Amino acid sequence: MLILGIESTCDETGVALVEDGRRVIASELASSSSFFEKWGGVIPEIAAREQVKVIVPVLSQVLDQYTPDKIHAIAVSSGPGLIGSLLIGVETAKVLALAWGKPLIAVNHLVGHIYANWLGKDIIDSPQFPLIALIVSGGHTDLVLMKSHRDFKLLGSTLDDAAGEAYDKVAKVLGLGYPGGPLIEELATRYRVPVERTFSFPRPMIGENNFDFSFSGLKTAVVNRVRGKEDRGKRVEGGKGVLEDGGKRIELHRKVAEEIAYEFQNAAVEVLVFKTLKAAKKFGVKAIVVGGGVAANQYLRSTLENADSNFKIFFPEKKFSVDNGAMIASAAFFKNTKIDALELSADTSLHF
Ligand code: KG4
Ligand code: ZN
Repeated sequence: MLILGIESTCDETGVALVEDGRRVIASELASSSSFFEKWGGVIPEIAAREQVKVIVPVLSQVLDQYTPDKIHAIAVSSGPGLIGSLLIGVETAKVLALAWGKPLIAVNHLVGHIYANWLGKDIIDSPQFPLIALIVSGGHTDLVLMKSHRDFKLLGSTLDDAAGEAYDKVAKVLGLGYPGGPLIEELATRYRVPVERTFSFPRPMIGENNFDFSFSGLKTAVVNRVRGKEDRGKRVEGGKGVLEDGGKRIELHRKVAEEIAYEFQNAAVEVLVFKTLKAAKKFGVKAIVVGGGVAANQYLRSTLENADSNFKIFFPEKKFSVDNGAMIASAAFFKNTKIDALELSADTSLHF
């Protein structure tokens, strides 16, 4: 079964053709993230305008070699996301479904991130149930228990910032660009860790008896550390990290910025891995799957993979960790809940 997947929830426009939920036949992506470098976050109005500009060219790149008669269904992310961006993908999918007379399948974007783990796998290599899914994206941090393709139970979520959002905010504080995740990861990798570490950031909610997360306190601890560095006169001019603090420019020595990035990443990943393993043990699952932009992070990957050999650990290929159309087509294949094209509307706050 060949499904055309469309993704447009935020600043990425993804279109892909996937066969039987696993085999990626074609996948194209356009991103407007470079527009947001100087602001350190997405501006919804600009993201939506960019979606309008690129949706047809991206669709054409995928459809050039495939006639509609070979496609069995159209799938689209119907939420959660930014309303202006979401509408572009949803309306495009509805038009295609009506014009071509194909079934339309609405996919929860977060479920899509989970199914990125089925792409490129055959049946034997695919994740087995029951499993724990950790979703770590720019807008969400969720732990989900899945007993089958149709049985999802939300165990916990972030109470404030999402993990990716924390990476983005810390990158902004350190004067890096957007998206912040890969930039923080790169800076942290360069840090030469001393035998005795000089400080560490808090691990919010790690000891609490639940599966929830909180990242805003960690971000505040980073901001305080950056300010403290300046207050104590340890500022070194010409450094790389720059904090725009209420109009005041704080410059950090490159090494100080590297250390902060390293310690922030350590704290964030430790909490994510600890709570994920706690859920996996409690529910006796066979596998752990991770999805969402932060799943592209190598430190998260290696920490989880080396933490406990009792569970089979799955991460998507890095290009399918961030938003893309293939994960939407895959989720549509496994869930296969058709909807009348005239009934579907975008839902910015769709949840499990
Ligand atoms: O899933 P995604 O593409 O979009 C949303 O659904 O939000 O995730 C984007 C988020 C951004 O916050 C970005 O900074 C983060 O994923 N991200 C990373 C990495 N690559 C992307 N975070 C940490 N390390 C990375 N390598
Ligand atoms: Zn996403």
